[in-house]
Amino acid sequence: MNITVRQGEIQKTRTEAIVVNLFQGAKPGGATAAVDAELGGLIGRVVDSGDFTGEKNRTLLLYPDALAARRVLLVGLGRQEDFDLETARQAAGTAARRLQELGVEKAATVLHGAGAGGLEAEEAAQAVAEASILACYRFDEHRSSPEERKALRQLTVVEFDGGRLAAVRRGVRMGRWIAEGTCLARDLVNHPGNTATPSFLASRARALARRHEGLRCRVLDEGAMRKEGMGAILGVSAGSAEPAKLIILEHGLSPRRRGARRRKPLVFVGKGVTFDSGGISIKPGSGMADMKMDMSGAAAVIGAMEVVARAGLAHPVVGIVPATENLLDGKAYKPGDVLTTMAGKTIEIDNTDAEGRLILADALTYAQRYEPEGIVDLATLTGACVIALGSHASGLMANDDGLADRVEAAASATAERVWRLPLWPEYRRQIRSQVADMKNTGGREGGAITAAALLAEFAGDTPWVHLDIAGTAWTDRARAYVPRGGVGVGVRLLVELARRSRK
Ligand code: BES
Ligand code: MN
Ligand code: ZN
Repeated sequence: MNITVRQGEIQKTRTEAIVVNLFQGAKPGGATAAVDAELGGLIGRVVDSGDFTGEKNRTLLLYPDALAARRVLLVGLGRQEDFDLETARQAAGTAARRLQELGVEKAATVLHGAGAGGLEAEEAAQAVAEASILACYRFDEHRSSPEERKALRQLTVVEFDGGRLAAVRRGVRMGRWIAEGTCLARDLVNHPGNTATPSFLASRARALARRHEGLRCRVLDEGAMRKEGMGAILGVSAGSAEPAKLIILEHGLSPRRRGARRRKPLVFVGKGVTFDSGGISIKPGSGMADMKMDMSGAAAVIGAMEVVARAGLAHPVVGIVPATENLLDGKAYKPGDVLTTMAGKTIEIDNTDAEGRLILADALTYAQRYEPEGIVDLATLTGACVIALGSHASGLMANDDGLADRVEAAASATAERVWRLPLWPEYRRQIRSQVADMKNTGGREGGAITAAALLAEFAGDTPWVHLDIAGTAWTDRARAYVPRGGVGVGVRLLVELARRSRK
């Protein structure tokens, strides 16, 4: 979708459709009032009739003959006192999706809530661009004859106040970058396991580094991992014919110079299990196909790194993705096996389906090389987290309140809900092993937390936040700006966290 910004009056715009808005229980104001005046008070009469009340995410379509535009799409913003940035995103997403379904290819819109809603022009513009692109996302790379469906190709943001144009342009540009990074993550998640292999993720990461200046990509193959002693990821990968990869994307690292103080980076780590069969502890057949999404953490990290590079964020950021399949074979790792991690700690395998924490253990150890100011990992780690929180929030566990607060603040800004769970020492006892330093499961009780307790062993003293996105990475029900399938959850949050770390 191409998005442009123009100074002008929406009611005079010649296009297939214009989008304006309405607060619930209010008279048309701002640009909506200007459109209403051209229409001889039609919108006011509709509102007075009670047929359209401005309820959040409700739309009303009009076909006026008094305007240069063929259609007017009115989108409800809900009550003004409840309005926030997320309402603006949902309004823009709802409108864009409605227009695309109608077959509209070119439209114009106002910003939502930059007047009476109290938003800054720049954040309102970012919200409109971001949500419009996200709402119109489709994935049909695997159809032999993609249905001839029209796409909303051109959106013009019309801003009346010329003094705000520069801010609106900045917001639109950032919104586009963020949305495209999120769509990249969605693509990776939506790809089936037979295309999105560890090697595929590595080649996509390399392609990003070629495309974006300042982004560096390195990939460790299994030989290099063996030299590093990464027995955990290699153990998980042993049953697969597809080779595992450790993918590293670096941005903004200052060269190591004597005397010069090196700025400590943020490190993002994403679980990249491109298909999780459960291994020898095989999963039940029904629903197993969904486990192609078990690399959603990896997708979020790769998508976020693209945005970090495009936006040229000043704060150094490193993305690390341990990528492997979890399959069955004569060479596969087995329950009862003991793996030696890169950190030297040993893990007894109780269940080969608890593979995510194993590959993350080695990735977290590798992350320590960067002497990070903080590590944030994202992983579709446990069904237990889905039982605890459903699909409405990601689980957050941390060894550091300061970093946890920063992640919570970023999450609330992007409306990607997180909910903190405790990580008390008692949980660590559940993963005690008779034969090794720990075992890879802790029983049914507190399953999301005992998984995090294993990760904590490898985060060490580095401030670290773990996000369990098992319930939030995929959706079977479309929302305002989230179509069915891979959500791309975490991309916007990670970018927001990096942006807020610029000082
Ligand atoms: N990838 C799964 C977790 C998962 C479940 C992700 C549902 C998305 C939706 C993970 O590797 C797994 O299998 N976890 C096990 C751990 C158990 C064996 C301790 C689980 O949650 O059942
Ligand atoms: Mn598993
Ligand atoms: Zn898994």
